[in-house]
Amino acid sequence: MSKSPPTLRLDRLLANLGYGSRREVQRLVVMGFVTLDGVPLTDSDQRIVITPDLSARMTVDDEPLDPPPGMVVVMNKPIGVTCSHKEQGPLVYSLLPERWRRREPAISTVGRLDKDTSGLLLMTDDGALLHKIISPRSNVTKRYDVTLDRPLRGAEENIFASGELMLESETTPLLPVPMEVASPTRAFVTLTEGRYHQVRRMFAAVGNHVTALHRDRIGSLSLPDDLPAGEFRILGAADLALVFARA
Ligand code: URA
Repeated sequence: MSKSPPTLRLDRLLANLGYGSRREVQRLVVMGFVTLDGVPLTDSDQRIVITPDLSARMTVDDEPLDPPPGMVVVMNKPIGVTCSHKEQGPLVYSLLPERWRRREPAISTVGRLDKDTSGLLLMTDDGALLHKIISPRSNVTKRYDVTLDRPLRGAEENIFASGELMLESETTPLLPVPMEVASPTRAFVTLTEGRYHQVRRMFAAVGNHVTALHRDRIGSLSLPDDLPAGEFRILGAADLALVFARA
């Protein structure tokens, strides 16, 4: 049996999406600024069924409602922004619309990319989904396009695939990491783990240095070609399913 969609009181829904305090959004409703299927809603106690198409059916001040709770964002993370809610300097969250920063539950990144790493980053307000993606049990792979300072020596592919590579100050070896060589100074590696600075430390362990790192795939979901650095879009259910599909 499929689960019926959740419901929320209209004022709670709007307040949780960052449109204002409960009292402020009640005023928006009374003034007729909120519509559903073209009809102004007048009762802020009314329960709204949270369906994925709600943004297409509800407007606030003549604009489509922000994505309802349970949203997933795909971003092309640029270099120079940090995946953190609290660190100093530019944060990935500052690339999202201002109102989204007041959402409850808050939007979080699904895992992290280093400040100097670019590419495919997922963000969501759905904690259960976030944990499912990053859980080792889900085996969701992440592919990185790696540019190196020095040419590959030839042994890296076997060393990374061995399941025996131990990173400095760690006590368990890395799971096998498949590598595809693209040129003497460029390779793709596919991780199933997400250890701290893993790709940079793997290449440091074989005497090289990563000069550019870009994530281009999570599971079978590729970074869209038409998504410029610093931009994002909402991920639909079909694309989300690709995250869990074998690459
Ligand atoms: N490995 C790294 O070293 N950095 C990242 O951002 C991701 C994987």
